[in-house]
Amino acid sequence: MIVRELKPGVYALIAIDWDRKLFDELVPLPEGTTYNAYVVVGSEKTALIDSVHPSMTDAFLPALKSLGIERLDYIVSNHAEPDHSGSIPAVLAMHPEAKVLANVKCRSLLTSSHGLPPEVFTLIKDQQVVSLGDKSLRFMWVPWVHWPDTTFTYIEEDRILFSCDFLGAHLATSDLYADDEARIERAARMYYAEIMMPYRTHAKKYADQLSTMAIDMIGPSHGPVHRRPEFILSLYRNWAGDATRPEVIIPYLSMYESTAKMVAYLVDRLMEKGLSVQPFNVVDLDSGRFAAALVEASTVVFASPTVLDGPHPSMAAAAYLANALKPKTRYGGIIGSYGWGNDAMQNSLEKMLPNLAVQWFAPVVTGGVPKSESFAALDRLTEDIARANTVEQ
Ligand code: FEO
Repeated sequence: MIVRELKPGVYALIAIDWDRKLFDELVPLPEGTTYNAYVVVGSEKTALIDSVHPSMTDAFLPALKSLGIERLDYIVSNHAEPDHSGSIPAVLAMHPEAKVLANVKCRSLLTSSHGLPPEVFTLIKDQQVVSLGDKSLRFMWVPWVHWPDTTFTYIEEDRILFSCDFLGAHLATSDLYADDEARIERAARMYYAEIMMPYRTHAKKYADQLSTMAIDMIGPSHGPVHRRPEFILSLYRNWAGDATRPEVIIPYLSMYESTAKMVAYLVDRLMEKGLSVQPFNVVDLDSGRFAAALVEASTVVFASPTVLDGPHPSMAAAAYLANALKPKTRYGGIIGSYGWGNDAMQNSLEKMLPNLAVQWFAPVVTGGVPKSESFAALDRLTEDIARANTVEQ
């Protein structure tokens, strides 16, 4: 792990986790991730902004030590989640003189996570400024992107914003800066979908707010540093804004090919209408790609066979994820096939999706194999989807 200078007196200490495949046993990391800490050396005082995942503490401490800091005045904790606070106890052991700057929520979470005693903390408030001499740290308490404690730290003189998880990307790379924008956009979109999309209105508010500030550089807590802030801010304004794209996402699975035939037919008809369509087989779902596809899509059609009197469990899991992520999707559909049962599947599946503020199209559910009337109903669904997207887009 190396130390790299962003501006005079401002350093990035980025722990690159090349090997991690899964975050929180939940979020796939196809390209690994990084945990970013920063050091700000002022004319009078020095601050460390966040730390790294506990698994990288052994690499982090020598990097911090290599800066030759005799006295560390502050450890700013922008966020208590252990991937950023995990090394704070070890840093405090190395620098017992340091005070942990945290808002009241972050202090509470750090105390419960690490058992830090009250005397190590100095509380900070929203918009409070702490001087390091010739550099001033302004703190912005920005709850719910993505935890209640989340804080941004802004160096006023250098116009550098440390944005915590916000505007980040799970991407292990030796690149310090986010100059490979096509690659960063893919990773940042997936990250936004998985971490920030459930808090879309907050993400929009803060992206708008940051777009009015004088910012030369954005140092997130994951992924490369942005030296063209408008690149990531404009992406967030679009992703978190209300506009959707005419895209149809179809999570599906099939047990005896009946639902698969319906999906194949619907995909073809939608493509004939010029709509972008993306089916996802949910039996072995790539949840990161699925989440990323939901970011701007106007329409989701769930396609499931009936198991007992509900959707197949793999569809229930995909629906749970879609519901939890709260995409801005406007239209929803349910299609599928049942064997000995009835059409109760559509009702129980719809009830699993209360967070989707969608207008539901008439469901198309058939007994056994799809017949001519099933395909006619799919034609009507295609017309409904095409009409809605033409009107809305
Ligand atoms: Fe990267 Fe919310 O921790």
